[in-house]
Amino acid sequence: MSNRHFLNLTDAGADGIAAMLADALDRKAARAGFPKGRADADAPLAGHTLAMVFEKNSTRTRFSFDMAIRQLGGTSIVSDAGSMQLGRGESVADTARILSGYVDAIMIRTDDHAKIEEMAHYASVPVINGLTDASHPCQIMADLLTIIESGKTLPGLKVAWLGDGNNVLASIVEAAGLMHFDVVAACPQGYMPTEADVARGKGRARIVSTPREAVEGADIVVTDTWISMGQAHAETKLAALTPYQVDAALMALAKPDAKFLHCLPAHRGEEVTPEVIDGPQSLIWQEAENRLHAQKSVLRWCFGQIG
Ligand code: CP
Ligand code: NVA
Repeated sequence: MSNRHFLNLTDAGADGIAAMLADALDRKAARAGFPKGRADADAPLAGHTLAMVFEKNSTRTRFSFDMAIRQLGGTSIVSDAGSMQLGRGESVADTARILSGYVDAIMIRTDDHAKIEEMAHYASVPVINGLTDASHPCQIMADLLTIIESGKTLPGLKVAWLGDGNNVLASIVEAAGLMHFDVVAACPQGYMPTEADVARGKGRARIVSTPREAVEGADIVVTDTWISMGQAHAETKLAALTPYQVDAALMALAKPDAKFLHCLPAHRGEEVTPEVIDGPQSLIWQEAENRLHAQKSVLRWCFGQIG
């Protein structure tokens, strides 16, 4: 089989995503009560090593992928790009070919999405997107898992996004197009997603300018930091986004059983109030833990074990 790269959700398609979500639910249940460092009983990736390369900071992606490959019976090598020759000019293409000789899969977090495409082009092992400026598919796998665990079904769901039209929104919109739910995103002028990003929603994504329009009747309310990694801390941007803060009054417009998601790290008092993110509708801790469970299934998909 040719390499299965996971650069965006479309690489797996609706069937692949459904298979990964089912696998993640099964595997999470099967290891309930295990110490976190114990491998799953079937250790399906025994003998496999995952390389992780970080050009940006990370807590969740770093630790959850490391534990994911261990629980699947494999091992990892984790490196910041700054301590690699990549950080002083060795090309992505050469790095891809070198790492492919040592490890069985590569996860990379980088800035320009073109870099991960170059990595995938030159690697002879699967490449996984651990976040780029353009998308964050692994995060959305965990979000979909969390939504399903909350008892909701994806088709027909209304997801409201508030704030910056960023990489996380781009992947939510892509998921909507594949899994048949609707996204209504309230973003200020100048911080809306690109037309290409909206098009990936295949008609299921709508951009509005008022938070109220997005949140009314929503099943899920999502936001993210107003300043993403690599972006300048601009007062003008913060000012434009201030009306898009998720607070209790806004949450009250969503369905009574609506849930709140945030990929984290969060900035309490900016994109969301403490009352909401630490309140009863928030699923953020489950969502963060689900990075681990979802990514185990992403790894298994990359190796052709599912989907
Ligand atoms: N949500 C997320 O990707 O977190 P990290 O930046 O900590 O990896
Ligand atoms: N949009 C954020 C997500 C962090 C996980 C960023 O790119 O910094």
